[in-house]
Amino acid sequence: MRATASANSNIAIIKYWGQRDEKLVLPSNSSISFTMDGQLSTKTTVEFDRLLAKDGLVLDGAPAKDNETARVSAFLDLVRKKAGITARAKVVSSNTFPKSAGLASSASGFAALAAAASKAAGLDLGQKELSMLARRGSGSASRSIFGGCVEWRAGKKKDGTDCYAEQLSPPGKWRDLRNVIAISSMDEKKVGSAAGMKVSAKTSSLFAARLGAVEKRLALVRRAVRERDFEAMAPVIMQESDSMHAVMLDSWPPIVYLNETSFRIMRLVRELNESHGKYAAAYTFDAGPNAHVYTIARYAPEIRKALAELSGVMKIMECGIGEGVRFV
Ligand code: DP6
Repeated sequence: MRATASANSNIAIIKYWGQRDEKLVLPSNSSISFTMDGQLSTKTTVEFDRLLAKDGLVLDGAPAKDNETARVSAFLDLVRKKAGITARAKVVSSNTFPKSAGLASSASGFAALAAAASKAAGLDLGQKELSMLARRGSGSASRSIFGGCVEWRAGKKKDGTDCYAEQLSPPGKWRDLRNVIAISSMDEKKVGSAAGMKVSAKTSSLFAARLGAVEKRLALVRRAVRERDFEAMAPVIMQESDSMHAVMLDSWPPIVYLNETSFRIMRLVRELNESHGKYAAAYTFDAGPNAHVYTIARYAPEIRKALAELSGVMKIMECGIGEGVRFV
């Protein structure tokens, strides 16, 4: 009753921000991401044991906080129900990136947990089922089951049976795509994503307008990915990020994840593109201030150098496109 799995984080280019069903974690719109390489990875071991009185979680070598353990325990309840078991579990999880880097990701965490826990519970789930299970822990985790470029289909059905992730292109298809990450804050986010998107759906008048624009962007990105057309994809990536953060700011109370460095990076990327006379880079930001600058390998050294010279940038990483979940 023991299994270990690894999963990598993913960074969305068409964002998930809003739920059509909170309990089942069904999103208001489909989203698309690239799965990162092993630099942003979580490895998790789950062991069910009838002798345990309660679930336990060790995160990066230390006992987890109560709220973190409770979230994992609620997720394990779903697995136990599916497998018809009652045993509690010991979960040991570690990240390849420092937890304090402000990149701590629920995506790699719940993807690895879904795979390890289901296997340890004796379930043999396919990738589609795994993505549906991971989704219940964290929406974005549904995408980390697959490598390469991944679309999480919102679906329409009330029971969520048509809501799962699918691979659009394998990791090897776009070998020179890069994500240059600029870290400008190591703080944990003050407003969690799930709580934040609930506030946006309820209070932002821009929320519905954003959903109206997303279908067209999805189609553009699907085509750009198929044809490895970075220049077509880049403006859509930036518009998507700007649109999500506009909705956040338009929420009440406003949700502000970006900091001054984030805005400096946005300007830098625009200037860089102007100097090249074409799209060489595209920024995107999740629920935090750290920048993910998608680019092509040949521009990466120039972008790293420019970002490193910017005031407020503490650390730079460069990721390629990586694999989906795997058992260890
Ligand atoms: C802004 O599903 O990761 O990154 O698990 O509560 O953190 P939590 O939510 P999650 O939502 C993340 C939303 C986003 C955009 C995206 O990844 O699509």
